Amino acid sequence: MSTIILGIESSCDDTSAAVIKDGVLLSSVIASQAVHEAYGGVVPELASRAHQQNIVPVVHEALKRAGVAKEDLSAIAFTRGPGLMGSLLVGVSFAKGLARSLDIPMVEVNHLQGHVLAHFIQEPDGENVQPKYPFICLLVSGGNSQIIRVNAYNDMEVLGQTIDDAAGEAIDKCSKVMGLGYPGGPIIDKLARQGNPEAFKFSKPHIPGYDYSFSGLKTSFLYSLRDWMKEDPDFVEHHKTDLAASLEKTIVDILMDKLRKVVKDTGIKEVAVAGGVSANNGLRNAFREHAKKYGWNIFIPKFGYTTDNAAMIAITGYYKFLDKDFCTIDKPAYSRVTIK
Ligand code: KG4
Repeated sequence: MSTIILGIESSCDDTSAAVIKDGVLLSSVIASQAVHEAYGGVVPELASRAHQQNIVPVVHEALKRAGVAKEDLSAIAFTRGPGLMGSLLVGVSFAKGLARSLDIPMVEVNHLQGHVLAHFIQEPDGENVQPKYPFICLLVSGGNSQIIRVNAYNDMEVLGQTIDDAAGEAIDKCSKVMGLGYPGGPIIDKLARQGNPEAFKFSKPHIPGYDYSFSGLKTSFLYSLRDWMKEDPDFVEHHKTDLAASLEKTIVDILMDKLRKVVKDTGIKEVAVAGGVSANNGLRNAFREHAKKYGWNIFIPKFGYTTDNAAMIAITGYYKFLDKDFCTIDKPAYSRVTIK
């Protein structure tokens, strides 16, 4: 008998549902919330309301595209955390209600574990190149920057992580002060392609071990920009491609320096990248260069699986389902936690 999992993701500002059958993706639907653009960041209250509006049509569409009836589902996997509490509650409550009404098991998924396991999503016609355990995963998103040793789908060890801001958060905030818009990641990425990465120098942190820090870079960027704008109020307009390229290069260098250290010390050359910032072209190129130079076997997700999506939740749920790792109805959503 086939195993069919419906995945539901609502941890931040994307409402998403996906259907996976025996590990193969049948459908993935994402409703992004444009409502936040005017505010330069996600407004939690608005996000939860939009999830409420989106969840039913998104789930309906995912099932329809997969050609699967609700009654065919084996289980429902949902993001239990970490994320915005109000947003999570919509997906968690919906998943619980649907699973209860269909009398099928629920599987809770850690959002960060989902990002890492996005590398295991199989597409019907796609070639399926998956990392072999153990591998190292650089997880970089709007809320997290971590280096993880992945021993098995359910055995992940955080070797290093940010002690303050996440890489994506730093990019978004710098973009915001430049008046470029939200989310800053894709905007900076596009501008950086046309700029000179050596034009400006920003400070890099000196943090021991494998941990990261991005708040110093953010602050030095803000102060430098303030000084430059005193001289030239249109400084950003005149230099935005060079600013974007130099900022991106600094962040990519910071990320790769620690990752190189981990790969050298562990001897694990199977190296993956995951999370929203892994859509960044500068970071993707740095991975390719490292593969060539240091013989790394790299895994870069398809663009659609970098940012939040339910396919990664469904594939994680699929593995947990096979292990009968079910969740009881009394488990609440949680807003903060890293990978255990
Ligand atoms: O994984 P994600 O969708 O959400 C979290 O779980 O946090 O990541 C969102 C982050 C945002 O900071 C966004 O600016 C960044 O990923 N991002 C990018 C790019 N696309 C999205 N950063 C750099 N370059 C990109 N192309």
